[in-house]
Formats: sequence, structure tokens, C-alpha cells
Amino acid sequence: MTARARAHTNIALVKYWGKKDRQLIIPQTDSLSLTLDQFYTDTAVDFRDNLDRDHLIVDQKEFPATKLGKVTRVLDRVRELSGERRYAVVNSTNHVPMAAGLASSASAFAALAMAASHAAGLDLSRRDLSRLARRGSGSATRSIYGGLVEWHAGHDDLTSYAKPVMEKVNFGIEMLAILIDTQQKKVSSRGGMELSVKTSPFYPTWREIVADDMVAMKRAIARQDIDAIGHLAEENAMRMHALTLSADPAFTYFAAETIQAINLIKNLRENGLNCYYTMDAGPNIKLIYNQQDRAQIIDQLTPLFGRDRLVVAQPGPGAHLLKN
Ligand code: PMV
Repeated sequence: MTARARAHTNIALVKYWGKKDRQLIIPQTDSLSLTLDQFYTDTAVDFRDNLDRDHLIVDQKEFPATKLGKVTRVLDRVRELSGERRYAVVNSTNHVPMAAGLASSASAFAALAMAASHAAGLDLSRRDLSRLARRGSGSATRSIYGGLVEWHAGHDDLTSYAKPVMEKVNFGIEMLAILIDTQQKKVSSRGGMELSVKTSPFYPTWREIVADDMVAMKRAIARQDIDAIGHLAEENAMRMHALTLSADPAFTYFAAETIQAINLIKNLRENGLNCYYTMDAGPNIKLIYNQQDRAQIIDQLTPLFGRDRLVVAQPGPGAHLLKN
């Protein structure tokens, strides 16, 4: 049986940056994100007779057998849970407004977890789907749910899963991505976080910061306070990036235009337009603001970056099955 699923990517407001267990991808800390409508992955999985290994096709290109590591890890877990013995063909299409470099592994592995488990005849709860997606990529854990989502770090496979904080988000929060550099990142999130955990003297403090930020962020969400959410997300992101600068060897995801964007956002704020920023393991900036200010924000960003490098995204849905 072929099963097809769609999952949307998410952007963390309280970041995940470090693993406790590399194999199972158990994080050092909790994290919290917003699932977005604009970026998603559609994946079909088909367990077939007569295959001697798994196959992965992404955007119509077949991946070399040596590059299937994480996909195989998820499929192996599905085979283990279901008793399915055959190999699978995984066919995935990324939907991004353009070659955005924002197609994160989050949507890919959440869609894979849902499609593969159904193709093997499993009917997992969303919690168990999030645990399965986690085996492929940490951030994928959260993409099983829509809206605002928390990944509870836990301490083992059973206790590390996502849960919804607010699935229907309709208080006006919106994100706008500035596409600064759409090339593949130079330091992978996996390598970057590992180096940060091992070598940044600030890592223990980061863990304390995240614990406090999780409490404050959930309170801000309950109040539907976009300014407090944006402020906390910005501060959290910069503290995460301080871990990269304080690692040995030090590294950074900032590009020159990243700093320009940050300066512009601060300027807008000083002039009374409330908007905040976050960034991940790459130089792109994502603004957080109230949708009523969208037009003004786009007007201000366009002269510097050009309208076609600005992508507006709204809260999006959780992973779901598609009809074949
Ligand atoms: O799970 P990964 O490898 O996609 O790492 C995600 C790391 C960040 O995007 C920087 C933070 C996060 O919580 O999504």
C-alpha cells in the first residue's frame, strides 16, 4: 500500500541546540516552535517486493544509496514496529515559494514518519508519530502538530515527544522570511550543535536560559502577546548564536546581510513599528510581527532586499495524510 503525507516546516521561538543522545536524538532542552503554512513537503512511501534496499527520490532526483542514513533510520524503526520486512521507495517533493534554502528537514521527516507508518499498516498516535519523526531530525518532532508546539526533551525514546501548545493560532502572529542566502549551510545544525555542547563554556547557562524561556514563552502565548513572544524569541535566538561564537573553533551563521537586516529591524522598532527577528542554522532572518503591520514592514524591507526575497508565512497545520 502506498501512503502519502504532507507536513509543514516550523521555526523555533525557543531553540533546540544540542543533543543528549545522538542516536535517538534526545535534546538537551525543551523547545517551542510555530508551524508555518508556506513551506511543506509531500512524501509518498511504498514498501515493495523485489527491492534490495530503500530508495529515496527528492524533487524527482534519486539520492545515492550512501546518502540515505537518516531516512533508513526512520524506515528501520517503522519496520521494527510493524513487522514489515520489505524495502521502500520514498518519493518526496518540497514546496517552497522559490529555491528558498528554507526547506528544512523538519517537514521532510515529519511527512516521512506519517507516510511510512501508514504504508506499513501502523496507526500511530500523534505523540508516537512525533517520536518517530524525531529519529530523522530533531526539529521534525514538532512538525507533526500545527500552530504553536512544544518538544518535551524527556530523557529517552518514550519520554521525548512533541505536544501542542496552541493548535489553532488566530491572534495575528505572522512570520516573514528574508532570503539572504539560499545556499546549503556551511556548518550543519548537527555539527554546529555538537561543537557548541562540547566546547562552549556558556552551554550550562544556555540550558538554564531555555528552562526560563519556555515558561515565559508559554505565558506570553496564553496572553496572545505578540510583542512579548517576539522579544523572547529574539533574545533566545541571539543567545543560541552566542554558543556558536563561544565554541572552539568559533563559527557563525551570520552573513553581512544578516546584520543589515537586524539593524533595519531595530530601526523600525525605534520608530514605533513593532517587529522582532529570529534566525536558525543559516543566515536567513525571520521576522515576527502582528499581521496588521505586514504592509508597512514589507514597504520598509523592500528597498534593501527586493520584494522577491521576502516570503510571508502564517501559522500552518500539522502533518496529515493525502489521498493517493
Ligand atoms: O533538527 P535540526 O537538525 O533541523 O536542527 C534544528 C536547529 C534549529 O533550527 C537551529 C533550532 C530549532 O529548534 O529548530
